[in-house]
Amino acid sequence: KQVGVIQVAFGLGGCREGAELGPRGIMEAGLLTELERLGYEATEVREAVVPGKPQLIESPAPGKMKYEDEVSRMSESVSGEVASVIGRGRLPIVLGGDHSVAIGSLFGIAEARRNLGVIWIDAHSDLNTEASSPSGNAHGMPLAVALGLAAFKPQGRKAPAIRKEKLVLVAARDLDPGEKALIRAEGIACFTMHDIDKLGMKAVMERALAIAGEGTDGLHVSLDMDSLDPSEAPGVGTPVPGGLSFREAHLAMELLAESGKIASLDIVEVNPTLDREGKTARLAVGLCASLLGKTIL
Ligand code: ARG
Ligand code: MN
Ligand code: MN
Ligand code: MN
Repeated sequence: KQVGVIQVAFGLGGCREGAELGPRGIMEAGLLTELERLGYEATEVREAVVPGKPQLIESPAPGKMKYEDEVSRMSESVSGEVASVIGRGRLPIVLGGDHSVAIGSLFGIAEARRNLGVIWIDAHSDLNTEASSPSGNAHGMPLAVALGLAAFKPQGRKAPAIRKEKLVLVAARDLDPGEKALIRAEGIACFTMHDIDKLGMKAVMERALAIAGEGTDGLHVSLDMDSLDPSEAPGVGTPVPGGLSFREAHLAMELLAESGKIASLDIVEVNPTLDREGKTARLAVGLCASLLGKTIL
């Protein structure tokens, strides 16, 4: 069992500073020790080259992604790192950073797997295009970009990177009007918090796996830490009440691990400046361990 950790210290896709410190926070919370305990070897740890905040900040134009150039350079670097980790036969773990880093992971994975299943665990659906986005923030757009619906396209990569039929959203509870319309129009599978309350996490994950896990050549899990309730994960840039409990999130990871289909993952939106105790980063490490096979007994 071999993994490659890719740290992406990038926060310009979000709405506040601090998400760029996420990778360091997650590493300091003991990710590598936990991976070793689980029997992962030859762990390679890499750092994507990401641009910092530009000197001259252009005034945000309506209908345009904020920091488009920076997001473009970041995704190029991340997709290259992810593709090379997969090329060496290892499972990539991408540490964000805000959720725009997933543009890089999805396009990088798509090099190797054209028929990818994606499970997106998030309070949000991150399906905004430049036209529908209320904020212009890139972290609200990665799925629209990966589906080829946004104007923004990563350089030298083929869009779409993923198929809408094999995408499942889990834990959604804050959707913008354009996103709701898109989910309905495109028929994207979306298990909201309402569905989780009603059906329970076990049934939801079984359905999610039936959609994204069958007939695909690998499963990518993108874990936005704001999927959790803010009482469990306070260190996120866009907290939304009414999220996953500690056990619901772990159960989701444990059931995904039992499927044996996990081929890559992102852990994003940890913002250590909003959580001095490091609770969110420790939870991120614990959830990563559960997703990679840690069991209670
Ligand atoms: N829907 C809002 C927007 O597009 C919030 C997105 C939050 N995304 C995230 N990855 N935390 O601006
Ligand atoms: Mn997100
Ligand atoms: Mn989110
Ligand atoms: Mn909102």
